[in-house]
Formats: sequence, structure tokens, C-alpha cells
Amino acid sequence: MSTQPKRVLVLGGTAYLSRTIARTAVERGHRVTVAARGTSGEPPEGVEFVKIDRSSPEGVEALRGREFDAVFDVARIPAHVGPVLDVLAEGAGYWSFISSISVYAKNDVVSDEVHEPTAPDSTDPSGKVYGVSKVACENLVRERLGDRALVTRPGLIVGPGDTSDRLGYWPLRFSEGGEILAPGAKDRPVQWIDVQDYANWLLDAADAKLTGTFDAIGDHVGMGAFLDGIAEALLEEGVIDELPRLTWVSQELLLEQKVAPWTGHESLGFWVVSPDYDGHGCRPAGPAVAAGLRLSSLQETVKRWWRANAASPMLRAGLSRVREGEVLAAWHGTEPDPELARYDRERAFRVPPATASPA
Ligand SMILES: NC(=O)c1ccc[n+]([C@@H]2O[C@H](COP(=O)([O-])OP(=O)(O)OC[C@H]3O[C@@H](n4cnc5c(N)ncnc54)[C@H](OP(=O)(O)O)[C@@H]3O)[C@@H](O)[C@H]2O)c1
Repeated sequence: MSTQPKRVLVLGGTAYLSRTIARTAVERGHRVTVAARGTSGEPPEGVEFVKIDRSSPEGVEALRGREFDAVFDVARIPAHVGPVLDVLAEGAGYWSFISSISVYAKNDVVSDEVHEPTAPDSTDPSGKVYGVSKVACENLVRERLGDRALVTRPGLIVGPGDTSDRLGYWPLRFSEGGEILAPGAKDRPVQWIDVQDYANWLLDAADAKLTGTFDAIGDHVGMGAFLDGIAEALLEEGVIDELPRLTWVSQELLLEQKVAPWTGHESLGFWVVSPDYDGHGCRPAGPAVAAGLRLSSLQETVKRWWRANAASPMLRAGLSRVREGEVLAAWHGTEPDPELARYDRERAFRVPPATASPA
């Protein structure tokens, strides 16, 4: 595999995955340009920053005529994709588009059928059209780049820099101890991709000029094994000194108690509803692994998250202690502990009132 320095462009690069790609590319010795508005965060050290605003075609003119060996893009809005292709496609050796498993039309079974795309000039940023918008973005990239394009479809991305905190709730909650609500069923499959594993693979794939379309996801495990793996990592890290005391609560009661699945305010990260989402945690990891994706163990991923994020003062997913206590009390047929509000006040992290629903 070639390790020649490349001219790399990351469209994005000020947040999470795209920032991890840019940072890793710098560490590998590439000449890295990052193009964004600069509102989501700081680009990593050692990159050239080009200010663009993709909300109008004129906003990307600063990139016209530039040539890059590899371009990485994380766009979600189709109207953001056409203009960058207009100014860059000709001078781009390779184009890596980051899509999502939300392109798939079905969640109840594992199927490769994708949604009908929305219009290629759609400007709708809402979460409701996320999947159909990503399909339209993918198509635009394939139409213009053809056999120079790689499209990868990640599932839940976890690791340092994640602001959705779907993973992060669990280690933080385990670190508090006490009786901990776990969402049944134990064998419900869950899967994820570590943000650093993903960035490494995308850069390796650019070196190897890998093209085509792949899911970007790790092997699935049951929710029980997932929570056990998190506990093991925290034991090894010295964060906890005994196994967490989990109480497995049925889906029926969680829904009755209006616990939100998956993400956002008063939710349980990684928990999805059966049977509607029975296919959701089971995308095949094999093709990506055969194409070079190397997967960290869950323990490694959790330790990296813990070292980078444990001091975070805010969690965007997870249950407050009051809500958790109410649900546990309903499960046991008892009254909630009146002291729980105090735990929330004294918590090192907070569950914010606003919802945030990243993909
Ligand atoms: N998180 C998950 O679990 C998950 C799951 C499946 C798929 N995905 C996909 O994975 C990717 C994650 O990307 P990410 O981590 O880089 O996070 P992101 O929040 O999607 O970042 C978007 C990037 O684009 C830039 N941007 C947004 N609007 C812009 C505009 N109008 N003009 C110029 N730049 C703009 C932002 O920078 P500025 O705001 O500074 O301009 C930021 O750097 C996305 O493609 C997402 O759809 C994520």
C-alpha cells in the first residue's frame, strides 16, 4: 500500500469524524486542507483552513481550480454536494463520500434496498429527510466521479468528539454505581464503528484506491455482551472496582414509561425497538473488514472514549437519575427514591433539556 504524501481535502474537518480524518491524515504526513465555515469547532493543527459556506454555490468558489489526490466529504444536504463537485471533481484523483446506513429503506430486516432519493438540489436540513438526502448525495458523487468514488455507509459512530453521547452515557452511568437500568432484551443485537478505526480505514482506502459502496460497521453483539464489555473496560481502567448492578427492564415497560429509544433527551443510547428495528443492529461487517477495515475491541474503544471524554460536563443522551429511578420503581412496583433529584444535582454530567438527534 502506498504511503506517499498526498494532497488531501476534507470538506468539513471541524467536527468529530471529519476532524478525525483530517487529524489522522496530518499524522500520516499528508498535506491536508480543511474546508468549512469554522462554526462547529477548530480544525486540527497542521492543516490549511479554507473558509467556505456550502449554503450557496458561490460560497465554495474559494476551492475552484484546486487539485487534490483525495477528497473526503460528510455532507448531508444534496444542494451542498453539486457545487463542490462543479469546482473540484475535475481536479480530484479520488472522492470518498461518507453516507449512512440511514439510506436503507427497511429497518425491520437486513436489506440492501435504499430509499428513493430526494431532489438533487434539496436544501432541507431536517432529520426527517436524512436518509433520502444521503441517497441523493451518494448518487451525485457516483454520477460525477464514477470509478474514482468510494461511498461508505456508517452505522453508529462512537469515540472521542462524539456529541450524541449514545455510547458515553453507559460508562458514565456505570461509574456512578447503584442500581442501573438496562434495556431488555439482552440478546438484542447492537453494533457501532469506532471513529478512529473508521478514519484509519478511509485513509487506507484512499491509498489503495478502494472504490464502490460499503457499510462501515463492526460486528454485532447482544446488548448484554455490549454492557458487559463496557464494564470490563472500566474495571481494567480502574474506574469501577465491582461489576455494575444491572436491572434488565422489558421493552414494554420502557415504552409505557416513555423512555426514548436510540438518542436524545431522556433516552437510552443503543436501545432500539423490536420488531420495527430488528434489522438495524445487524448490518454485515464482513465486506468492510475484507476491504481493510480493522476493528478495535469494544474495551479499547471505551477506554479511548473514557480518557478523552469523561470530564465532559454535558451528555446529550441518557436518562436523568430521576427518570431512571421512576422507571425502576415502576418495574419493581415500589415508590421512587425521593433522594434521586439530589443525585442529578450532584452529577458530574447533566442530561440537557433540549433534544439533539444526530444521525
Ligand atoms: N454520528 C453518527 O453516529 C453517524 C452515523 C451515521 C452516519 N454519520 C455521518 O457521518 C458523518 C459525520 O460527520 P462529522 O463527524 O464531520 O460531523 P458533522 O456534524 O456531520 O460535520 C459536518 C461538517 O461539515 C461542515 N459544514 C456544515 N455545514 C456547512 C456549510 N454550510 N458549509 C461548509 N461546511 C459546512 C461543518 O463545519 P462548520 O460547521 O465549521 O462549517 C462540519 O465540519 C456525516 O456524514 C454523518 O451523516 C454519522
